[in-house]
Amino acid sequence: MAIIKNIEFSNFRNFNNFQISFNDKLNILFGDNGCGKTNILEGISLIAKGRGIRNSSISNLIKKGEDNFLIKNCLEINKNNFDIQIFTETKNAKSKKIIKINDDVSKESLDFLNKSISYLLFLPEMERLFQASPSYRRNFIDRLIFSSKNNYNQLINKYKKTLIERIKILQGNNVDDDWLNHIENEISLLGLEINHLRISQLSLLNSELHTLKKDHNFQYDVVLKIKDSSLQSGITHEKYLSILQNSRVFDKQYGGTKIGPHRSDIISIINNDFEASLLSTGQQKAVVLMILLAQCNFLVNKKNINPIFLFDEIGSHLDSQNRQILLDMINRFDIQFFLTGTEKNLFSFVSTNAQFYNITDL
Ligand SMILES: Nc1ncnc2c1ncn2[C@@H]1O[C@H](COP(=O)(O)OP(=O)(O)OP(=O)(O)O)[C@@H](O)[C@H]1O
Ligand SMILES: [Mg+2]
Repeated sequence: MAIIKNIEFSNFRNFNNFQISFNDKLNILFGDNGCGKTNILEGISLIAKGRGIRNSSISNLIKKGEDNFLIKNCLEINKNNFDIQIFTETKNAKSKKIIKINDDVSKESLDFLNKSISYLLFLPEMERLFQASPSYRRNFIDRLIFSSKNNYNQLINKYKKTLIERIKILQGNNVDDDWLNHIENEISLLGLEINHLRISQLSLLNSELHTLKKDHNFQYDVVLKIKDSSLQSGITHEKYLSILQNSRVFDKQYGGTKIGPHRSDIISIINNDFEASLLSTGQQKAVVLMILLAQCNFLVNKKNINPIFLFDEIGSHLDSQNRQILLDMINRFDIQFFLTGTEKNLFSFVSTNAQFYNITDL
C-alpha cells in the first residue's frame, strides 16, 4: 500500500517552489479558482506511469518561461520510505518524463513503483459521464481496467497501431494481401482481448454494485453494459475476420475501421428500466460515485490493491445521497484521500480527522 507523505514542486505548472506534507488518511485542499488545487493532484498522479490526470503534454507541465520541472516526493510503500524524483529530459526536441526511485532509474524499480501505486480518480467532467462521447466512457472504463492491469495500456496502444497500419495498407497503391491478412488477424485477436477485458471488468463492477445496493440501501440498481452492434459477446475470431474483410472497400473510403472496441459504447441501465443519461446531473454524479466505490471494493477486496483517491472538485453539488456515498468510501477503506473544492465549508459534513489545506495561502 502506498502513502504520499509529502510533495515538493519546482517550476511545475503555476508553482515556483512549493512544498506540502500530507496526512495518511484524508487531505482536503481548498482555495480560490486558479490557486493550483488541480495542479497538485496532477503532480501526485505523475508519480505513476503516464501523463497524469490531465493527460497533458510534458511541455505544458513546465512552468511558463522555465526549461524543466522537478517534483520530489516521499512515498511510503509497505512501511518503507522511498524518495521519488520526477523531471523531464529533452532529446532531439522531444521531452520525456523520467522517474528516479531512491536515485535509481532501473526498470525493476519502475516496475516496483508501478505495481505499488494506483489511483482512483474523480474529475469534474465525470459528472457528465453519461452525456459525454462514447470515447470518454471507453476511457473511463479503460482507466479502471488499467488500475489493476498494468500492461493494459500496451494492449490498447498495440491495437491502435494495427488499425492505423490496416488503413495505410488499404489506401496504399499496391495492397499486399498477405500483410493485410496478417494485420487483420492481429486486429481481431487484440480487439477480442480488449472486448473480453472490458466485459469482465463490467461484470465485476456489476456484482460489486449489486452487493453495495443491498448493503447500503442505495437508490438505484446500476448495471453496466457494452453497447456494440457488431461486437456481441460470443463473436468468434473467424466472424470478426470476415467482417473486417467485407468492410475493406468501405473502410478505405471512410479512412477508418468500422468495427471494433474503439467504436463500442458503455451504457448504464438504472433499475432495469432506463439509461443513466436520463437521470438529473446530481443523480448521475451519484451513479458515477457508486461505480467508483464498486471499483474500490473490487481493488481492495479482490486485488489487494489500495488505490489513492484523487477527487477533484468533489465538494460542489453534493446532496445528502452523494455525501453518504463519499463518507462511505472514506470510512470503509484504509486508504489515502485527496479531495478538492473551492471552500472549506463544502466539507463540513466530513467528521473523520481530516487535514485541511488552504492552497491560496500556502
Ligand atoms: N505551465 C504553466 N505555467 C504557469 N502557470 C500554469 C501552467 N499551467 C497552468 N498554469 C496555471 O495554474 C493555475 C492553477 O491551475 P489549477 O487548474 O490547478 O487551479 P485550481 O485551483 O484547480 O482552480 P479551479 O478551482 O478553478 O479548478 C492556473 O491559473 C493556470 O493558468
Ligand atoms: Mg481545479
